[in-house]
Amino acid sequence: MSEAKKLYIKTYGCQMNVYDSERMAEALGGQGYVETQSPDDADMILLNTCHIREKAAEKVYSELGRYKGLKAAKPDLKIGVAGCVAQAEGEEIMRRQPMVDLVVGPQSYHRLPELEAKARSGEKALDTDFPEEDKFEVLKNRPKAKRGPTAFLTVQEGCDKFCAFCVVPYTRGAEVSRPADRILTEARDLVERGVREITLLGQNVNAYHGAGEGGDWSLARLIWALNDIDGLERIRFTTSHPNDMTDDLIEAHGTCPKLMPYLHLPVQSGSDRILKRMNRQHTADSYLKIIEKLRDARPDLLLSGDFIVGFPEETEEDFQDTLDIIRASNYGYAYSFKYSTRPGTPAAERDQLPEDVKDDRLQRVQALITQQQKAAQDAMVGKEVGVLFEKPGRLPGQMVGKSDHLHAVHVQGEGIQTGDLRRVRIVDSGRNSLAGALVA
Ligand code: SAH
Ligand code: SF4
Ligand code: F3S
Repeated sequence: MSEAKKLYIKTYGCQMNVYDSERMAEALGGQGYVETQSPDDADMILLNTCHIREKAAEKVYSELGRYKGLKAAKPDLKIGVAGCVAQAEGEEIMRRQPMVDLVVGPQSYHRLPELEAKARSGEKALDTDFPEEDKFEVLKNRPKAKRGPTAFLTVQEGCDKFCAFCVVPYTRGAEVSRPADRILTEARDLVERGVREITLLGQNVNAYHGAGEGGDWSLARLIWALNDIDGLERIRFTTSHPNDMTDDLIEAHGTCPKLMPYLHLPVQSGSDRILKRMNRQHTADSYLKIIEKLRDARPDLLLSGDFIVGFPEETEEDFQDTLDIIRASNYGYAYSFKYSTRPGTPAAERDQLPEDVKDDRLQRVQALITQQQKAAQDAMVGKEVGVLFEKPGRLPGQMVGKSDHLHAVHVQGEGIQTGDLRRVRIVDSGRNSLAGALVA
């Protein structure tokens, strides 16, 4: 038997790319590839890329530049670009960087084996179609290897919302939901392999409407079905749009035992004028009302959000509205970005704000967010939470895991194993993590 070929995958961007990279490794596993942690001994390098901001996209080209020496030393090495940059730029990637052998968009990963064979034979391989078939169905031939305690599971892809700043509707295409039974089968399979927490993924996950028994299922219905799987202990989902936060889903946060008290619900801006220009289709007030309902259902819900500062035409007053909505929402986590012009999106054509104004606003928004995050973390001290242990900590006898609210928690404790879910009392709050003690 010939020696296994080695595959190195580098993943950028969101969790959906993490999930896709696992699927790509499985698809190429059938072609005799095993994964390696270093590009140096690889026979194939795949970059799974992100196009969300300019910096993210440019990283791809600087990374490719680094492989020049490797390719010169090993002409058989095949280099591929997958993900959202592949979808957005297609053939242009090979023009700009001729050593790239293969370009594959996010909807075509099930065609990787053919594309790999084509690249192996010395031809350039390109596929950025949006085919009809379910890419995950064809990719399901996974090995039954043991896994860590947490896993992602993509249930929905694409986006029909067309926020004026965002490339996702172009790179991932229209919204598609996977059928409920396939998701449940995949979830059971993950649990058999050691997974105890599943995070359901979708660019617009709460718009999920997959075919199921009796008609289309909502995300809430899917979560309730997952709740019945023995051995699965925790359910999360991300990312949600405020307008798809339906009453059944809000209610599930109060009543579904395995659904964790954490929600990523981006609002982007606190100014109604900017929200309108962003084509977000909601107001600051409608967002705050949803949060109120959510906290009525689940008082200890930890909220997380995304913010864009320096969007075209954003005034200081608009920016103050953003600071206000952050104060009013009280986030446990929040992520903020300077607006980045993306080719082909409506906002890219508008008058842009000076860079120094964007920098200044980013600093101010981040100062507020950092304060809120720390306060939310500190407020956990004295509370009892569930912790799912994921790995040993830095100190001997220490284990680290994530709390129900997604805080990192380290515990000094004899006999704790990876994959254990234990009750823990939080005793201290450090810079980026909590310290806890097992509740007897
Ligand atoms: N589907 C998710 C977000 C996907 S992108 C949602 O609707 O919330 C993740 C985050 O990147 C967004 O929430 C937004 O804050 C940020 N983002 C998207 N496009 C951007 C751009 N052009 N410039 C800066 N940040 C951007
Ligand atoms: Fe992008 Fe808006 Fe769709 Fe989120 S909802 S993926 S921000 S277009
Ligand atoms: Fe980036 Fe594509 Fe995800 S643009 S954020 S990798 S959907």
